[in-house]
Amino acid sequence: MDDKFSFLRPDTVVVDLGCFSGGWSQVCVERTLPSSSSSMVIGVDKVRMDPLDGHTFIQGDVAAEDTLQALQAALGDRRADVVLSDLAPALVGLKYEDHMASMQCCLYAARIMEKVLRLGGWFIVHGAQSRGTGARTWTPASTPSAR
Ligand SMILES: C[S@@+](CC[C@H](N)C(=O)[O-])C[C@H]1O[C@@H](n2cnc3c(N)ncnc32)[C@H](O)[C@@H]1O
Repeated sequence: MDDKFSFLRPDTVVVDLGCFSGGWSQVCVERTLPSSSSSMVIGVDKVRMDPLDGHTFIQGDVAAEDTLQALQAALGDRRADVVLSDLAPALVGLKYEDHMASMQCCLYAARIMEKVLRLGGWFIVHGAQSRGTGARTWTPASTPSAR
């Protein structure tokens, strides 16, 4: 997606929700160059991740208020230009339940996005569709947002 839309650039603040084990965060660091620009890449996951240069990791549950507070503290007086979410639930193998759990993750991501994304920033959220739920596959969305 970034090859097409180029939202990952130097001097960009990125929040990567559900960042373990670091694949998306690594690409964000490579493309936004925090070591030579004002970029920040902040990842959040309930599973601890190995440290990554140019990356701030917050271990926490995205549903918890203290995780949002830790994220806001890491941002300081900055707002995110990009909020990514690859949050995914532990699947139970039941298509309706798995679909709903994925949608719940998307709602958690949206709740955080509303608090931290700058106006006109990018919100890119990955939701998993289970066949037979009647839902459509959807992934990217860009939305203006304000606290
Ligand atoms: C598909 S993996 C993310 C992969 C990651 N984007 C990468 O490139 O390596 C989904 C992640 O969402 C995390 N996750 C699911 N629910 C969460 C929650 N409530 N709070 C924090 N992390 C959560 C899981 O721990 C898991 O690491």
